Formats: sequence, C-alpha cells, structure tokens
Amino acid sequence: MAFPVNRPRRLRKNENLRRLVREARLSVDDLVYPVFVTHGRGVARPVESMPGICNYSIDRLLEELEEVAALNIPAVLPFGVPEAKDELGSGAYAEDGIIQQAVRAIKEAYPGLLVITDICLCEYTSHGHCGVVENGQVLNDPTLDLLARTAVSHARAGADMVAPSDMMDGRVGAIRRALDENGFADVPIMAYSAKYASAFYGPFREAAGSAPQFGDRKAYQMDPANSDEALREVWLDIEEGADIVMVKPALAYMDVIRRVKDDYGYPVAAYNVSGEYSMVKAAAQRGWVDEQRIVMEILTGLKRAGADIIITYHAKDAARWLREGR
Ligand code: PBG
Ligand code: ZN
Repeated sequence: MAFPVNRPRRLRKNENLRRLVREARLSVDDLVYPVFVTHGRGVARPVESMPGICNYSIDRLLEELEEVAALNIPAVLPFGVPEAKDELGSGAYAEDGIIQQAVRAIKEAYPGLLVITDICLCEYTSHGHCGVVENGQVLNDPTLDLLARTAVSHARAGADMVAPSDMMDGRVGAIRRALDENGFADVPIMAYSAKYASAFYGPFREAAGSAPQFGDRKAYQMDPANSDEALREVWLDIEEGADIVMVKPALAYMDVIRRVKDDYGYPVAAYNVSGEYSMVKAAAQRGWVDEQRIVMEILTGLKRAGADIIITYHAKDAARWLREGR
C-alpha cells in the first residue's frame, strides 16, 4: 500500500485542478480606488512617497478617471487637498469645497462610477487633527455636528456613499440622523469602524498634508494591540446605522478582518493603506520583489481573510492584471 494515503498535492497538479478548488477569488468588483484632488487647473503633482500616485486638479482627475471607468472599477474615494485650512476645518463642509466640486464634476462626467467620500476634518484643520481642538484636546461631541454637516454637503453634491474616518464616538449615528433629516435616507455609510493609530498612514499624510501639528492620534484612533475592542467599535457602528464596516490598515490586521466578518456578517471593507502601497512600490522599484505577484498575493490574502471590499492604490494595476487573466 502506498504511503501516505492522503496526498493534498493531488489537487495542486495543474492549473485547471487548482482553479476547481480555489477558495478566494479576487475580482475587479471588489476594488475601490482612492484619489487625491486639489485646486487649480492642469495640476498632476506626483506624491513623492507613493510612486504612480498624483495629486490632481479636477480637470486632470477627470482624465485620470477615464481609465478607472474603462477598467470597470466600481468606485473611487476622493480625498481633498484644500487651498486653505482653519481651526474648525471649514473647507470640509463648504458648499464649494474641493471635494464638493470634485464630486459634482465626477458624477457629471461618469454618472455610473460610484463616488464614496471620506468624512474627516484633518485635511482641512490648521492643527491637522480630525476634530475640534481646545486646550490641546480633541473634543468629541462638538466635532459631531461638523462631521454631520460635511456628510450632508457631500450628499448634496452627489456622493453615492459617505465614509467617516475620524474615530469620534457617536459619529455614525450623528451622520445617519443628519442625512435622514435632509432627504438622504438612501445614502449608505461605510464606517471606518476599526481604524488604528498607525505608522502606515505616513505617505498619505504627505499626500494630503494632513499630519497633526502637535501630538498624535492615539487618543481617538485605536491601539494596534487590540482586537476585542475592534469588535465593540464595529458593533457600535452597526447599532448607529453603518451599512459597511471597515478595518484599517489591512495587512497587519487580517485577524481583525476575519473576526469582524465571522461575528457580524456585514459587508467588510479593508483599507490597504498608503504605507502598505509604498513598501511594495519601493521594493519593486529596486527589483527586490515581483510587483505583480506581490500585489495579487496581498489582495487575494485580504479576500481570504474575509474582506468583501478592498480599498487600494493598486486598484488600476490589479484591474488590468485581472483583465489580462494574469
Ligand atoms: C483621514 C484619513 C487618513 C487615511 C484615510 N482617511 C489618514 C489619517 O487618519 O491620518 C489614511 C489612508 C492611507 O494611509 O492610505 N482621517
Ligand atoms: Zn482625519
């Protein structure tokens, strides 16, 4: 009798066998592409720490989105880089703010492309924190009204979905109520529910000019050591009306993605953040890793971990590789 009886290698013999028993499948349907938008015309300023990513003025962003739409990527997530900042981040909820203008322009040019907007104040505040600051403290409750105003102004501009990323307590409820009261009961909320205080946001903060001017975000973003707490955060956001819950960053938090998916059965988004992107790009540029294989392995790993939606700066490349069947 041949030994061993069980030989898992039997099902790995060739690609067609592997196709039959493959569990997780990455699709273009899963992808959301984040973009940076700023004032001016004809601007395409490369983000130094994120090769392949630019900060675009609206006219150039529309050109860039032609490829995104052609690749059939379902959604984009624009981040605003405003002209001016102030204490209360008024650019976040200005009717003619950079995001409000961008959303109107994108929806006019590409009505079918979903526009999901990030709801936060840090790109718009002079101190760079995600809420109202008083005596060096980020105040929770006074921030909620500004976040709610931001969400309503995005919905008014035509946003298909809003995504609060500030980590104030009660913000999903405050935003849900404000949207409902203003006739936007059908605009879903994708909550950055388990958002960690992470070093992986470094390149994003360079791109968006949103680094805090004093201190850090540890008094509102989560401690990277915690995952039971992530489940409580997710539960609270669902209770307050979140439609999709997010774990961010992605790679160091795959266990959290899995726990959230198993415990709630809600659509889970994973944000493959800027630092995760930059590490891959840097190593690939040096020829140290095979970029395509690394990216597809990472994104497939996130699917396997339980992510339904993957927000990633690799979205265009991944969509192209998937289309080419590679
Ligand atoms: C704003 C926001 C951040 C990111 C998304 N929304 C930065 C932060 O919290 O400092 C990070 C995205 C990335 O790193 O790609 N609050
Ligand atoms: Zn913020």
